[in-house]
Amino acid sequence: MNQQTILVTGGAGYIGSHACIELLQAGFNVVVVDNLCNSKTEALSRVQQITDKTLTFYQHDIRDKAALADIFAKEAISSVMHFAGLKAVGESCEKPALYYHNNVYGTLVLTEVMAEANVKQLVFSSSATVYGECGCTQYAENFPLGPINPYGRSKAMVEDILRDLSAADTINQAKSPWKIALLRYFNPIGAHESGLIGEDPNGIPNNLLPYIAQVAIGKLTQLSVFGNDYPTPDGTGIRDYIHVVDLVKGHIKAIATLEGDAFGPGGCKAYNLGTGRGYSVLEIIDTFQKVTGQAINYKIAPRRAGDLAECFANPELALKELDWQAEKNLADMVADTWNWQTKNPQGYMQ
Ligand code: NAD
Ligand code: UFG
Repeated sequence: MNQQTILVTGGAGYIGSHACIELLQAGFNVVVVDNLCNSKTEALSRVQQITDKTLTFYQHDIRDKAALADIFAKEAISSVMHFAGLKAVGESCEKPALYYHNNVYGTLVLTEVMAEANVKQLVFSSSATVYGECGCTQYAENFPLGPINPYGRSKAMVEDILRDLSAADTINQAKSPWKIALLRYFNPIGAHESGLIGEDPNGIPNNLLPYIAQVAIGKLTQLSVFGNDYPTPDGTGIRDYIHVVDLVKGHIKAIATLEGDAFGPGGCKAYNLGTGRGYSVLEIIDTFQKVTGQAINYKIAPRRAGDLAECFANPELALKELDWQAEKNLADMVADTWNWQTKNPQGYMQ
């Protein structure tokens, strides 16, 4: 059994809670720090119920340096999975300073505390949104970056900071250099197969799958399909949807890779986490209807500002270097989304 302790920032959130399950099941000790600004402790109770294991929870903001340092003093942390952050693109345009403060400054505080505690292994939640528009559809890690909203820029800034920290180790000939994996997620959907944990968005969802699920269960009346005049086979937007459990398995592989000889003594590398296959909005609706037997009421609406026609991952580097690839198909993702939705029509609010 692996008795290493992993600090999971944002561990009560959608992806972080699924990561806690995989970590506990893989035999790691798990310490969560979360300020609960977009989550509930019920998610962590259910993680413990599913795994029949316990984790340690600290309710703090990662920008609270003293509180964070105290966690590192108390717990024998070996690596950090850093999920804590704000993620709503629209809100980031209205409140950019909040996003930079939370996502960028928060990561600076975290890395300062980590360096002081000499814990220098980090897996960071980045996003496909860091890529610039390049006229292409399939994105590889060496493509130019060029995010188009404050949320995306906050992720790109953090990536720059982490690359710089790693580069400085070479200049300074650091004895224990940073080992950092920047994981660029494509479109995480789905839920744990138990249906006990899943995505619990506040208010009306922005993202496609939670919206469809709420139409199917009758909380919302109609889905708007944003544009059917894109240069794609059926005219609707194409994305690379990835099951959240596959995604978090990529994080466990990343930790193992950072510790392995192949990664080298230190460094900072980006990896796409996607399936490498895209589906259109109409294909998603069709699969949802077939898998769940629920009719989805939808209409064609104008395009949404800032949306690309098509975006999917080149996942080859993650296969080669992390020994990871997505295993679940779209029907699994839809079935698990629906299982979570039907078992928890009000999310974590009972
Ligand atoms: P989420 O909102 O469900 O989880 C984020 C968690 O971080 C929440 O529990 C929240 O309370 C916590 N948090 C936020 N700011 C904090 C702070 N300053 N201190 C302590 N805790 C804080 O989001 P998620 O979907 O689980 O996303 C996790 C990470 O993955 C985020 O960094 C997000 O930007 C990134 N990401 C998500 C997606 C996606 O589609 N879900 C795509 C790409 C990248
Ligand atoms: N869509 C609709 N109707 C909706 C919602 C979405 O037609 O009500 C369409 C969009 O136009 C797009 C597709 O469904 O073509 C997917 O949209 P999402 O909002 O679910 O996902 P995005 O690809 O726009 O963005 C998501 C996250 C970003 C993240 C990105 C890549 O919201 O934060 O994936 O990881 F950066």
